Amino acid sequence: MATITDATGARHARILGVGGYRPSRVVPNAEIVDAIDSSDEWIRTRSGIVERRWATPEETVQMMSVAASRKALDRAGIDAKQVDCVIVSTVSHLMQTPSVAATIADELGTEHAAAFDISAACAGFCHGISMAADFIRGGSARHVLVIGVERLSDLTDVHDRGTAFIFADGAGAAVVGPSDAPGIGPVVWGSEGDRADLITSKTDWPTAMETGETPYLAMNGNPVFRWASFAMAKIGQEALDRAGITADELDCFVPHQANMRIIDALARSMKLPESVKIARDIAEMGNTSAASIPLALDRMIEEGQATSGETALFIAFGAGLVYAAQVVVVP
Ligand code: COA
Repeated sequence: MATITDATGARHARILGVGGYRPSRVVPNAEIVDAIDSSDEWIRTRSGIVERRWATPEETVQMMSVAASRKALDRAGIDAKQVDCVIVSTVSHLMQTPSVAATIADELGTEHAAAFDISAACAGFCHGISMAADFIRGGSARHVLVIGVERLSDLTDVHDRGTAFIFADGAGAAVVGPSDAPGIGPVVWGSEGDRADLITSKTDWPTAMETGETPYLAMNGNPVFRWASFAMAKIGQEALDRAGITADELDCFVPHQANMRIIDALARSMKLPESVKIARDIAEMGNTSAASIPLALDRMIEEGQATSGETALFIAFGAGLVYAAQVVVVP
């Protein structure tokens, strides 16, 4: 019997560059409050959100992804032709097939890179980073482009008090490649599908087609809030433990940007010292789901808050319920 050759990859993987795209249209709380009988003060106090970005018709999932990716490739010093795999995490590309990853890979100018979409909601970027690291170490790819992108404004009912002020649009991308030293720590991830009804589309597509009802996002915010604030701190701690570092050694905390109070609660529960720099992009961006972590990290790097070689803890959670956390080295 013949033996087949196994793939061999790089010893380690790391993020080589990140990039973000923020849609041009700024939507302040004042523009939202009348339709949901709310107030700027309530939204700021309960969520920390001051304004968000909603994409214009020209700012499509494809367009925002390509813009974020070009920036990430440029920062990484990697040509699109060196990318062998494109992973796009999104729940708001409103075209069932083909994957948006394939057309993004083409527009960027990759040479027939493997390309596919994943659906892991707000945790999708962290799922993609974990997969990219494994592909590189396992020998399936040398450079992987991971994109988190959403146009949640298309799926948000502006009259829904529970969601209208939260969800928003944007894209973030990261180039992952081989490294001499560990750059992406072990992922701690999982799902709790028995709680899937907490964040869900209001209808499935067959019902939407029959009734004409738009499958807007629906969320039971309070249980999600409690779950995220407590359970996710344990997941973050496990990611630190598995990466072999303590909270005192951590430089940056870049959690999913869902609610400022969740960010604060996580930092408190994990006893992060004052020295840890915390991403607070939620105030200006709202919740951009899969895009929120790369967008927040991109901003921290641009503003000089996070510097190359520092460690950053990602914690992401969302519809499913699903979650993923890992420690990475800042590119
Ligand atoms: N404007 C004004 N008042 C509102 C409101 C709104 N948009 N939405 C709800 N309220 C009212 C409620 O009616 C309730 O009033 P009552 O006390 O008189 O009954 C009160 O505010 C509290 O409502 P509650 O839903 O318990 O608020 P909350 O503190 O849980 O905050 C969220 C609501 C949505 C901000 C919060 O639950 C949250 O952020 N959840 C997690 C969201 C999240 O992370 N989602 C994404 C995961 S990917």
